[in-house]
Parts: sequence; structure tokens; C-alpha cells
Amino acid sequence: MTAPVVYLNGKYLPADEACVPVLDRGFIFGDGVYEVIPVYARRPFRLEPHLQRLENSLQAVRIDNPFDRAGWQDIIDTLIERNDGEDQSIYLQVTRGIAARDHKFPSATPTVFVMSNPLVAPAAEKTAKGVEAITLEDIRWQYCNIKSIALLPNILLRQQAVEQGAAEAILLRDGKVTEGAASNVFVVVDDTIVTPPKSRCILPGITRDLVVELAHDHGLPCEERDISETELRNASEIWLTSSTKEILPVTHLDGRPVGDGKAGPVWQKINRIYQAFKSGLQNPGKT
Ligand code: PDD
Repeated sequence: MTAPVVYLNGKYLPADEACVPVLDRGFIFGDGVYEVIPVYARRPFRLEPHLQRLENSLQAVRIDNPFDRAGWQDIIDTLIERNDGEDQSIYLQVTRGIAARDHKFPSATPTVFVMSNPLVAPAAEKTAKGVEAITLEDIRWQYCNIKSIALLPNILLRQQAVEQGAAEAILLRDGKVTEGAASNVFVVVDDTIVTPPKSRCILPGITRDLVVELAHDHGLPCEERDISETELRNASEIWLTSSTKEILPVTHLDGRPVGDGKAGPVWQKINRIYQAFKSGLQNPGKT
């Protein structure tokens, strides 16, 4: 099998030949930001909002954006073309660059790394079975809106979930739901879809925004407001969203069934709408 092609600082090369110096601040400090962009039928999905969020993350950590939109699009298009697979997941990261270890900002050129991984959607029947989640205290910092590469808290939380046989940790801060370790959270309460409002406590998920938009467009009641722990535990449905998971129903929370322990009717509806939107975009003639 040939190694996938990656982009590193202006060059396209096989992944096993791409090297970053040990003094890169991404390696030393986790000093950088990233994006994950799904690609369906060889087209990036919701590219504009992903690039806008990248711009926001870079501004928040005061790294100059190394490219304009066209520059990013060109790299992403080239990587899609040079890698196999109709569906891919583009991972890109920008770090503050290479410099002697010192906390203060160096004058350095940002390191830019982009790779493509196969995006394997789980079989529809498997998704419809749903997953188990556990609740954990949100131990992360107060800038969770920044898509930082420093993910140690998220990793520890996800690992704790996995060790308890669950797919995700749903996080609670001050008695309210924030998000998952690597996903946003939705619940259904009295037939209304609810997701926490955007704030520094959550990543403004691109999938989250699309779900909210599609719910409004299709007349499904949907609110962006705080969700208490009690509401979470009594919700008739819970879903996780992300660029790689799409909309995933949680059928058991902390070992207890959510609703009747099966993917619920509102999820069936929104998932149908989401899948139709996805395929419509890939075949514009159909929409
Ligand atoms: N993570 N919240 C967190 C903490 C995340 O890490 C992610 C995605 C999301 C969902 O955002 P989006 O819908 O834009 O993918 C929410 C990516 C997929 C990852 O780290 O691999």
C-alpha cells in the first residue's frame, strides 16, 4: 500500500517522509490550532464555515493566517485529488512554528500540516442502533471555542468513557451540559430539539450549526439554550454531532436507557433530512 500524500510547509509528500523539527511549538507546547473537514464524493463539505472557524481560532491565539481562502482551498483540493477515496477527512493544523523553548511568542513562521484520512461512515443500521455515553465533569479550560491542538483533557475524558464501554463522554459544567469530548450534544425535550448556546464553553460545531439550520428550515422546533443535568437525564432522545460522526443517537446514558433505549423518531427525521442535504449537495441537479 502506498503512503497517503500529505502537505507540509509548501510541499506535497508521502506521509512517511514528512518530518517536523522537535522544537516545533506544536510538539513542545501544543501551541497551535486545527480543523477537521469532511469530504463527500471528493468535495469538501461546508468548507466556508470550517475556514471561518479556522480564522477565528488563529485570531484567538494570535497566529497570522498563513493563507487566504483560495490558498487553503487549493491545498485541500490538491490533497483530495492525490489521495484515494470518494469520502475523506481532511485534517489541517497550524502551529506557531519552530523556536527555542520559551513561553513567550517567538518570531517564527507558522508550521502548516494537512493530511487526508479515509472517511468511513458507519453502516446506517449500526448508526441507528445508537451508542452508549457516560457523563463526566467538564475539566477543560475556559476557551473551548478555540479548536486548539492541545487536547489532553479531551483525550483523558474520552479514554475514561471507552474504559467504561462507552463511545463518548457527555460533559457537565456547573450542572449544565456543555458538549462531548469530541462532539456537540443535542437533546429532545417535549418534542423540541435543544442544544447548548454558543459560548466559550463549547466548540461551535459546524455539524451542530447545520443541524440547527436544517431543523429550522424543516419546521422542527429547535432551541439553543442551556440544558440542565436533570433535563439531560430525562430527555427522550440524546444525539452527538461531529464532522466524522454526523448525527449519532445516544441510546444509553450512564448505563440507563435514553427514552425507550432506541434511536428516537426525531432523530429518524433529522437524520433523513441531513442525509438528503448531503446527497443533494453532491448532486446539485437533484436539489
Ligand atoms: N472534533 N466539540 C469538540 C470538542 C470537538 O472536538 C468536535 C469535533 C466537535 C464537533 O465539531 P464539528 O461538527 O465541527 O466537527 C465539537 C473533531 C471531529 C476531531 O477532533 O476529530
